[in-house]
Amino acid sequence: MTVLGHWCLVWFFGNFGLGVTSVVFTPECPQSITLRRQLLEVYWQRPREGWVNLSTDGSSKGNPCLATAGGLIRDAGGCWLAGFGTNLGFCSPWQAELWVVYHGLTLAWFHGYSRVDLTIDSAMVVSNFTNASHQVVNNLVLAIWELLLRNWIVRARHVFRESNRCVDWLANYSYRLPVGVQWFNQAIEGMSTLLFADSIGVALPRVATHVVLFFGRLPCLFEQKKL
Ligand SMILES: *[C@@H]1O[C@H](CO)[C@@H](O)[C@H](O)[C@H]1NC(C)=O
Ligand SMILES: *[C@@H]1O[C@H](CO)[C@@H](O)[C@H](O)[C@H]1NC(C)=O
Ligand SMILES: *[C@@H]1O[C@H](CO)[C@@H](O)[C@H](O)[C@H]1NC(C)=O
Ligand SMILES: *[C@@H]1O[C@H](CO)[C@@H](O)[C@H](O)[C@H]1NC(C)=O
Repeated sequence: MTVLGHWCLVWFFGNFGLGVTSVVFTPECPQSITLRRQLLEVYWQRPREGWVNLSTDGSSKGNPCLATAGGLIRDAGGCWLAGFGTNLGFCSPWQAELWVVYHGLTLAWFHGYSRVDLTIDSAMVVSNFTNASHQVVNNLVLAIWELLLRNWIVRARHVFRESNRCVDWLANYSYRLPVGVQWFNQAIEGMSTLLFADSIGVALPRVATHVVLFFGRLPCLFEQKKL
């Protein structure tokens, strides 16, 4: 905590937000700062009738390093419609998340789905497509924009990894595939328990960390979700 004139800077070090230090300017110094952990329940929500759920997940063993990704399209009943796994070879985690979105959207378009709930476990990639002020400097981002601008509705949002168990599994499985994309028309052996758990809405706990600042009587809550 640093006091600058009438302003007070509170620094948080640790695994918040994008893993960087967060800074909060407050006109008044907090009397106390506490970290509070809260247990949330996350589970797979059925897409609305007429929509499909496209889940994506990229995985990498370093930055940059060997990376894989998995994607899966399910209907409102939680049934497997189409999926894929890809071994991307050497690539950064950010590129892995982009590749999986690209392949997933290509697959959904190929199957003719017109309403797609796209879930991504990287908040940064979601911001790349929802925040128009980012300069587009990457060919893959441009290719995804081209897909998004076609005649269909795609809603993209960020989800926690815990509600992404199936694609997490697919991404891990893809380390044993040859480099390239492999399309799966039906569930892979070994995934049925996870698919079933999702289809009946089994929840998994997730610990979220809140930073709580107390200013005299008024508590001020900053929620920082771990990505
Ligand atoms: C879609 O899939 C993601 C990831 O598996 C899940 O978190 C979400 O609840 C599902 N449903 C909707 C409506 O997005
Ligand atoms: C993606 O988002 C990150 C963080 O929000 C930003 O720094 C980066 O420039 C964006 N990249 C592209 C290609 O839009
Ligand atoms: C969009 O990106 C700009 C520049 O990176 C950033 O200043 C702004 O806060 C972002 N907006 C949202 C809604 O994330
Ligand atoms: C990833 O796959 C390997 C086998 O290929 C397995 O031993 C490991 O437990 C898996 N990890 C996760 C998180 O599923």
